Amino acid sequence: MPVPARLPMPLAKCLNFSDFRHLAKRRLPAPLFHYIDGGADDEVALRRNTAAFDDYELMPRQLTDVSTIDTRTQIFGKTIAWPVLLSPTAMSRLFHHQKELAVARAAANMGTLYSLSTLATTSLEEVAAASAGPKMFQIYVLKDRGFVNALVARCKAAKYDALCVTVDTPLAGNRERDHIHGMTLPPKFGLADLASFALHPAWSLNFIRDPDFRVANVAEMGDAKSMGGMGLIQYVNAQIDRTATWDDIARLIELWKGPFAIKGLQSAADARMAQQVGATAIMISNHGGRQLDGAPAPVDCIAPMRDAIGNTLEIICDGGIRRGTHVLKALALGANACSIGRPYLFGLAGGGQAGVEHVLSRLRGEIELDMTLMGCRRIADLDNTFLAKRREP
Ligand code: FNR
Ligand code: LAC
Repeated sequence: MPVPARLPMPLAKCLNFSDFRHLAKRRLPAPLFHYIDGGADDEVALRRNTAAFDDYELMPRQLTDVSTIDTRTQIFGKTIAWPVLLSPTAMSRLFHHQKELAVARAAANMGTLYSLSTLATTSLEEVAAASAGPKMFQIYVLKDRGFVNALVARCKAAKYDALCVTVDTPLAGNRERDHIHGMTLPPKFGLADLASFALHPAWSLNFIRDPDFRVANVAEMGDAKSMGGMGLIQYVNAQIDRTATWDDIARLIELWKGPFAIKGLQSAADARMAQQVGATAIMISNHGGRQLDGAPAPVDCIAPMRDAIGNTLEIICDGGIRRGTHVLKALALGANACSIGRPYLFGLAGGGQAGVEHVLSRLRGEIELDMTLMGCRRIADLDNTFLAKRREP
C-alpha cells in the first residue's frame, strides 16, 4: 500500500531519502533541484537504478547471536566504519554555502570516504586541509593532458588516498529537465526563472552575496560567474577527450601508482579490461541515470562483473542506493562497497554539514539494524547465501 505523502518537515524530522528530497525541493530554486534530481531522456535508467533492488530478496538467518554488529570494511587499503562512500558530484556551492567542505567533513565525522569532483567548487588542497578522513579525487581524461597530469601531481602532494577516472561522459547526457527549468551554470537571475529564485530568497541572497563561486580545480573556469548558458555542460563537451581509450587509463594508473578506480563501467568485458590495465577498483555506475538512458541498473551488473574478474579488483556499486537493504543486497551480490550521490546532495541542500551527517547517520543506522535482522554480524560474512532469489523483472 502506498505510504501517504508526509507534510514538509524540518531536517531533524527527516527519516529517509524521500524526506530529504522534499526538504531540498523546498530549499532550492527549481532549476537547481531538478539539476540534482533529474536524469537523461525518459529517466528510465534513473528509476531502474533504485527499482532493480526490489528484484532481489534478503534471506535472514536466525539465532546467530547478533548482540554486536560490525559494519567496518576495507576499501583502497583503508578501513572505513561502514560500506558506503560518497560519489564525486559537481558544484556543491550551488546547493549550500558550506559547499564541498561540509560534505568532506561530514564523511570524515561519519567514518567514510569522500570523493571530490574535478568540477567541484572547492580546491582539492582546501578539502585536504579541512578533512583528515579518507579522500578520493575524480578526474576525466581531458584534451589537455598536461592539465590532467598536473591534477594528478596535486593529488599526490595533497595526499589523496585514491584516484578515480570517470569514463561514462565522453559527452554530457541529454538532461531535459535542465532545459525545461532553465538551468544555467552558474545560475542567472533572468526573467524566465526569476520567480523561482524570488520564491527562495534565502538561497538567492546568500548566493548573490558570496564573492567566491569558482570551479576551483579547473583553471580555465576560474571565474565561473561569467560563464554563459549551460556553462558546465559546454565545458564538459568541449574539454573531455573523446579519443580516450584504455591506453590512456593505463597511463594514468602508471602515473598515479596508488589505489585507482574506474568509474562508469557496466559490462563484464570492461571489468576484464579494468583488470588488464591494472586498476584496483571498479565503480559500477551509469552516472546516476544522467548519461545513457536505458543503461542497466548497477545492481544487476555486480554478479556478472564479479564472475568475470574473480576477487582481483574491488567493486563499488554506485547509483540508486536509498536504503540500508540496498547496500546489503549489493554486498551479498559481490560488491565491496556502495556509493551515493543524490542522497547526500539533498542533505547538503537541506542543512549543510548537519544535513549530510543526518543522511549518513540514517543510512548507517539502517545498515546496522538490517544486519541484525539478517543475522549477519560482519560485512565479510555477507555473501549470496543471504539472497533468497531473484524475481524475474
Ligand atoms: C553527479 N555525478 C558525477 N560524477 C562524476 O564522476 N563527476 C561529477 O562531477 C558528477 N557530478 C554530478 C552532479 C550531480 C548533481 C549528480 C546527481 C551526480 C554522478 C555521481 O558521481 C554518481 O555516479 C551518482 O550520483 C550516483 O547515483 P545516485 O546515488 O545519485 O542515485
Ligand atoms: C553531472 C556531470 C557534471 O552529472 O558529471 O552533472
